[in-house]
Amino acid sequence: MRTILVTGGAGFVGSRLAMGLKAAREGTRVIALDNLRRRGSELNVPRLAASGVEFVHGDVRQAADLETLGPVDCILECSAEPSVLAGYGESPCYVLDTNLVGAVNCLEVARRHGAGFIFLSTSRVYPIEGLRNLPYREGETRFELIGEGTAPGVSPAGITEDFPLAGARSMYGASKLCAELLLAEYQAMYGLRGLVNRCGVITGPWQMGKVDQGVVVLWAARHAFGGTLRYIGHGGTGKQVRDLLHVDDLLDLILYQLDHLDALSGRVFNVGGGHEVSTSLCELTALCVRLTGNAIPITAQAATRDADIPVYITDHGRVSEATGWRPRRGVEETVTDICRWLRDHEAALRPVLG
Ligand SMILES: NC(=O)c1ccc[n+]([C@@H]2O[C@H](COP(=O)([O-])OP(=O)(O)OC[C@H]3O[C@@H](n4cnc5c(N)ncnc54)[C@H](O)[C@@H]3O)[C@@H](O)[C@H]2O)c1
Repeated sequence: MRTILVTGGAGFVGSRLAMGLKAAREGTRVIALDNLRRRGSELNVPRLAASGVEFVHGDVRQAADLETLGPVDCILECSAEPSVLAGYGESPCYVLDTNLVGAVNCLEVARRHGAGFIFLSTSRVYPIEGLRNLPYREGETRFELIGEGTAPGVSPAGITEDFPLAGARSMYGASKLCAELLLAEYQAMYGLRGLVNRCGVITGPWQMGKVDQGVVVLWAARHAFGGTLRYIGHGGTGKQVRDLLHVDDLLDLILYQLDHLDALSGRVFNVGGGHEVSTSLCELTALCVRLTGNAIPITAQAATRDADIPVYITDHGRVSEATGWRPRRGVEETVTDICRWLRDHEAALRPVLG
């Protein structure tokens, strides 16, 4: 029987991967470790149990919490302080201790047990200024990159793994990049098998969206439950663009990667929905109004915040070529799934998302 540890296993991504893995791989023992820091992650604890996933209340910052788990065959490292705004105007200790020290503690478990390691990293490893300085045009409802293919790391499909890494990237992005570098050292020095997925925006049901992280669910929840929203930065027009990845598309990829870890070991991939699965905030507003039947007040804050970037689109060509994987769920399907989940679980979700 294989044992797979999912750190951050009560979080949005970790819980979906843990439950999906348990359902897809009969006989696999799946352990979800989480310190329940993220508000709403406690709602996933009974769901994990009902799916046959073992939940452990533990903290990746504490090596002892990981040691007590015993041997594991693979680690999906999904624990994090995942907000790019973490550390601005406050101590960076939590984001660094969890994302970097916590990742090292997980790498140590993998080294001691000869376990595989799949690291959930982020597109935020790419520096803020570099992304901000890419030329774009202002369309009617969205900003669009221009001159794709003319700058290093910018292909006609979006941002590739070769985007230059010099420059500041936030404590969140830096802590993730440091963990990536250490994973590469563990691979070189100890022969650890592992890979890195640099994900753009991931979304779907059971994401506890808030102002600084999980914007698609925040948007849908405010439309569904009432409240107000703000277009922040870049003139306050809501034209900033991201590609989205449905968490079920990520699950499909992770299942493949688990089965082919030896062949994929050492690889670094940009993972996201790509141009076909992208939206601006104001386009997302129109979709949320249509799906929920509610229009809500949205104000504008023209000033751009420190980590804001106008457009990010993932070029997922490398991971698609290596694995045959492609994102299958579009923007409308993804937001429809989220709206259905909000309706079906309104009583439990209102206190967290309302
Ligand atoms: N959601 C996205 O759009 C996105 C994009 C790119 C990368 N990622 C990465 O994916 C992973 C999962 O993110 P998510 O969206 O599920 O976030 P999340 O906040 O829903 O999940 C993270 C989980 O980690 C837990 N956690 C925090 N500190 C911990 C600690 N010290 N010890 C143990 N558990 C701790 C939280 O309680 C939470 O349940 C993260 O590594 C994140 O950086 C997410």
